[in-house]
Order: sequence, then structure tokens, then C-alpha cells
Amino acid sequence: MKYLFPKDFIWGSATAAYQVEGNNTGSDFWAEEQAEGSPYADKSGDAIDHYRLYREDIALMASLGLKAYRFSIEWARVEPAPGQYSRSAIEHYRDMLNACYEYGLMPVVAMHHFSSPQWLMRIGGWASPSVPERFSKYCEVVFQELGSLIPYVLTFNEINLPVMLRDVFMNNGLVPPVGIDSASWRAPQWRESAARLCGTTVDNYVTFHMISDEAKIALLKEAHIQAREAIKRVSPQTRVGLSMALSDVQSVPGGENIAEERWQLYFRKYLSMLEGDDFFGLQNYTREVYGQEGLVRPAPGAELTQMKYEYYPEALANVIRKVAKDLSIPILITEHGIGTDDDVRRVNFIRTALAGLHSCIRDGIAVTGYLHWTTFDNFEWNAGYSMTFGLIAVDRSTQERHPKESAHYLGRIAQTNTLE
Ligand code: BGC
Repeated sequence: MKYLFPKDFIWGSATAAYQVEGNNTGSDFWAEEQAEGSPYADKSGDAIDHYRLYREDIALMASLGLKAYRFSIEWARVEPAPGQYSRSAIEHYRDMLNACYEYGLMPVVAMHHFSSPQWLMRIGGWASPSVPERFSKYCEVVFQELGSLIPYVLTFNEINLPVMLRDVFMNNGLVPPVGIDSASWRAPQWRESAARLCGTTVDNYVTFHMISDEAKIALLKEAHIQAREAIKRVSPQTRVGLSMALSDVQSVPGGENIAEERWQLYFRKYLSMLEGDDFFGLQNYTREVYGQEGLVRPAPGAELTQMKYEYYPEALANVIRKVAKDLSIPILITEHGIGTDDDVRRVNFIRTALAGLHSCIRDGIAVTGYLHWTTFDNFEWNAGYSMTFGLIAVDRSTQERHPKESAHYLGRIAQTNTLE
């Protein structure tokens, strides 16, 4: 069976600055890693040194056949102190964008991907009423300089992740690896230490992953709206959106209501935030099944990925169909991937998911592109370097890149616009 994709379909892969650049010493995650008793498995250190090697990396992506590259800009680099912008960091990102064009890749940029400047924590983090203004000002400065080079931007990556994390951890009765909700969780000691390293106290230490109550969600919404306005003002041709993490929420008999509630909480609750956006960034990894008692664990013997997610590539098409019911803007898959050391499973995962995605397009749903998570094996937050989601392996002792078969596979699909 051959599946031909629409002309102009966007094919590429994605990274996030903090996970690949290395030495983001001004970001809150750096403090979390260095904190006493930190639960992070590794320190990010040089990461995969993408801050230095981006030109070679972009050339490599192009040589594999990929046609788009999603990356993020690290706020703490561009604005290392409140209101103080780094010309050098802006020029760095300008050169990344120019390199994309030189090698024929379309850039897709995220302005925020989990990590925030440490200085933000000194003024109350994501609970500070000044957050919308500060975030939109940072976006405005970047777009004044680079807007003409950015056709697509995500203001935020996974605005709904904090709510999902809170939910998952509360249901498991586990203390979360990252502090989720100041009201619901007594801060583990390490967070006090991280706050100290940011130059503040734990009550001020409100990271992005803690935006899970109404007041903070309202601030996040305002930050997105003001940022979108600022971007559109200086760069009207840029298409603006945000991304959400969405599992395929399913139910078995008795679990229908819980599944419905979850979908409401994870997705529909945020719909008003998307009004005025140009596209929707959808990110999917697996499914969640609900029964009478709540989350149903994958059946014994079910294939699990390194993240202990169920291997379930059919989820992508299911989620596309579900979100499409509520959306009138095009859908761009801004992340989809699998943590595995078996690259044959990755190829299979991509193939099955793309066949499903194609059936959605055939049924008239506007899906405009697919960006695989992730280009390189990289720093998987609190799991450190143990998770291998990449199309390209990296030997971190030499920083040599080794494309896997899945990289060639996706590159061929991108070149031919066809899935076989
Ligand atoms: C995040 C990435 C992360 C990936 C795999 C997504 O939720 O945006 O930063 O590496 O999932 O866990």
C-alpha cells in the first residue's frame, strides 16, 4: 500500500534548546539538576553541544532528506537579566535560522519549552502577575529581530502538561519528580535547594510545571494571548500557535465518564486559549485507558517503551480525529515519538502512525505536517540521558552523530512525500 501525502506537507523533526544545547546555566532546570538531593538522573552539562554544532547538525538533517526543523529559543539566553537582552544570543538564533534556509529546511520555532530564566523565579515565577507582560516583551524583542525568518511559532510547548502531571501523580499517590502544584504538594527538600540556587525561596519558586491551578492557568492564557498579539504586530506573516500533549484517552465499560472528564481537563478546558491562533500543535506518544476505578494499566505482556508507555502508534490518528471535532484551524503534529533502543520498533511506530495520519487527511481533516520527536538522542529532563528518542544517536564522549535507520526512513518519506 502506498500513501501519497498532500503537496507542501511539512516533514521534519524537533528538539528543545535545553535538551540539546548544553550549558543553559541561567535556566531554572539547571538549578534543579544542581540542587542538593536533585532527583535528576544526570546533569545536562554540554548536552549534545548543539549550541556549537548546530550548523553541522542542520546540514546532517538536510542530507537525510528532512525538510523542516523545529527547535526552541532559550529565554534565559536571550534575556539573561530582566529587561537586558543579549545581542550575541539573538545573533546565534539568527544564524540557526539562516542555516535552516541555506540547507533547505523550514524552521518552526518554540519560544518556550519548559525551561525559564532563573531570574523569573526571583519574582514569583509563573505565579507572578507580571508574567504575561514579561513573556510577551521577550517575544516582541525576538520577533523584531528575527520575525521575518520565522514562518511558524509555538509560544508555549505543552501548556496542558502541568495539569496532566498533577493528575497522574495524584492518582498514583506518588510525589512528582518535578514540583507540580505548590498547594497540593509539600515541597521536597531538593526544591528548596533549587530555589536557593535561583536566588529565592521555595514559595517564590514556581516553575512552568507548576501551572496547574486556575489562577496560574489564567496567567498562562494571558501570556499566550499577549505574546501572540506582540508577534502578530511585528511579524504579521508568522503563523502563531501553541502545542498540547495529548494521549489517546480511551475507556473500557464503566470508565466512559472518567475518560470524558479527563478529555475535558486535558484538552477542552483550554479551547478558549486557542481562539485567534493560526494552527494547533498536537503532540502524542501513547494512549490512556480508563475503567471504573480510573486508569487501567496496560495488559500484562503489552509492549512498553523506555518511558513505560504502552507501544500504541494507532493513538496518533485517534487523537487527531478527536481534536478535529473542536477545531477549525489546521493541525500540525509538533511532536510524536518513542523512547526505545530498538530502532526497528521506531520505524514501525512511525509507519503505523503515519498510515493513520494519512487516513485522517483522506477524511478531510487538515493536518499540515509531521515533526518527529526527536532529532537526536538527548537530555530527557529528570530521566537524564537514559532515554533514546532520537532518529540520530550521539556519542557524547566525542559528540559524533550516528543516524539510525529511522532517520533515513523518515528522510525518504520526506523526499518522496510517500509512505510505503
Ligand atoms: C516534551 C519533550 C520530551 C518528550 C518525551 C514531550 O512531552 O515536549 O521535551 O522530551 O515529551 O518525553
